[in-house]
Amino acid sequence: MRTAGPAENGALWWRSAVIYQVYIRSFADGDGDGVGDVPGLRSRLPYLAGLGIDALWINPWYPSPMKDAGYDVSDFRAIEPLFGTLTDAEEMIAGAHDLGMRVLLDIVPNHLSDQHRWFQAALAAEPGSPERARFIFRDGRGPDGSTPPNDWMSNFGGVAWTRVTEADGALGQWYLHLFTPEQPDVDWTNPEVREEFNETMRFWFALGVDGFRIDVAHGLAKAEGLPDVGSIIWPPVGAEVVDHPHWDRDEVHDIYRSWRSLADTYEDPRVFVAEAWVHHPERLSQYVRPDELHTAFNFDFLLAPWEAEPMRESIVVALAAHETVGAPATWVLSNHDTVREVSRYARPQGVRPLRKLTDLAGLPADFAVGRRRARAAALLMLALPGGAYVYQGEELGLAEVEDLPEDVLQDPGWEQSGRTERGRDGCRVPIPWSGEAPPFGFSPEDANAPPWLPQPAAWRELTVEAQAGDEHSMLELYRRALHLRRTQPALGDGTLRWLHMPEGALAFARDPGFACIVNLSGDPVSAPAGARLLITSGPLTGDGRVPRDTAVWIAT
Ligand code: GLC
Repeated sequence: MRTAGPAENGALWWRSAVIYQVYIRSFADGDGDGVGDVPGLRSRLPYLAGLGIDALWINPWYPSPMKDAGYDVSDFRAIEPLFGTLTDAEEMIAGAHDLGMRVLLDIVPNHLSDQHRWFQAALAAEPGSPERARFIFRDGRGPDGSTPPNDWMSNFGGVAWTRVTEADGALGQWYLHLFTPEQPDVDWTNPEVREEFNETMRFWFALGVDGFRIDVAHGLAKAEGLPDVGSIIWPPVGAEVVDHPHWDRDEVHDIYRSWRSLADTYEDPRVFVAEAWVHHPERLSQYVRPDELHTAFNFDFLLAPWEAEPMRESIVVALAAHETVGAPATWVLSNHDTVREVSRYARPQGVRPLRKLTDLAGLPADFAVGRRRARAAALLMLALPGGAYVYQGEELGLAEVEDLPEDVLQDPGWEQSGRTERGRDGCRVPIPWSGEAPPFGFSPEDANAPPWLPQPAAWRELTVEAQAGDEHSMLELYRRALHLRRTQPALGDGTLRWLHMPEGALAFARDPGFACIVNLSGDPVSAPAGARLLITSGPLTGDGRVPRDTAVWIAT
């Protein structure tokens, strides 16, 4: 029996929801092994409820050899022992529901772990067997088959194919992996694959899970015949739409239509959010057509520089595209794959998109500016029509840890890129909860291992304990904004009206009686006469105007 979620939002709760992303291995360590786990998360549920969020999304917590931090799943219907047990998970889900929060899991349908029973069976079976047909095995090119079947590249660097040794000891076929070699892609044209994932979803839905974030939702369909990518560039430039052989193909939509029908069979319909890096708002909106997924992350907003026009443009275009299909937009400032926004906004803006650590190279940083902008961005995001995601630590104003020693780096991209991409570990460092020194309450006092990635000493000023009750802290800004969001009927799902502002600033109104002003780079701007200040991201000028890198919410 599932317990009730936030009743006040009703069945359409997801159109307005603020969802907190729990990167499980870095959130809270209950058993002292230096790695976050389910009991740790459970113990911190009151914190999340107090923050004022509607739901959590938990990164993969399934058994995994951890070649890609859990995105290499070896069994979809169990819990990784490092993180706990299925009973822990059930208790956590019930605990979240009791506190009025829904729970979304991460489903990884593009690939499995090479240790999954299916892939082990495929390796043991012959070319052309039903076991191999669940994956994408092909003969190599060239007289001896020693050239990969096509020119596709892995997302982490290197070719996307690995050659296997057949049962007779001879070099044999190749299998496709768009990510690490330990993450073989499955073949979505195979009905067995579809049924397997349906079964997995039913399993978790029966345990009360409210929905799924879909990993690499734009990657499941591959062009027939697996043609070479050739000169096609991804992401495509400008407004161009390209026929890429494995990203954002039209065939994926059929899969999501069937998933939607499954989710809709539940009395309390289950929901989806797509991770689809498609870079065209109108392409993104296809994923959220009425009979497909409910929501999809809007990464253009995440990548927009802190400049009024590009930021406004990203919002206008996203809202327009979502409106054509009647879906709410989903705003996000960071996640476990991108550089934290404090560090992005600390850099000169507009030089190039800042997503990976390597994108920051050579750009000077001003972290006071980065923090101010991150505060203003939070108010902007939470005032926009639709839903939003908050990545753990964002509410604490954590910056990317850019100087992790090389010997602790675990992101597969580090090795796979020939040690040129330091990867995503810097946004995955365990959360500081309390105390003056690492592990900052992340692990219990008597822990027998340090946090799996080292926390900066300076985080003693950014712990939950240090920020709680300090009205100038990022944490209190988030708490106040999230609580206001619940009391302001204008916020969440709906529409906005742009208001005229001088260059460098943005403002929009929402009915009834609400406006948000964000000054990104201009001279101080005034709020409309008679307005009442609800919240500000930073100090106003002496005469009450909004200076640059500051946002305010006002009641009009
Ligand atoms: C998604 C995940 C990322 C992972 C990749 C492969 O982009 O967010 O962390 O490495 O998929 O599963």
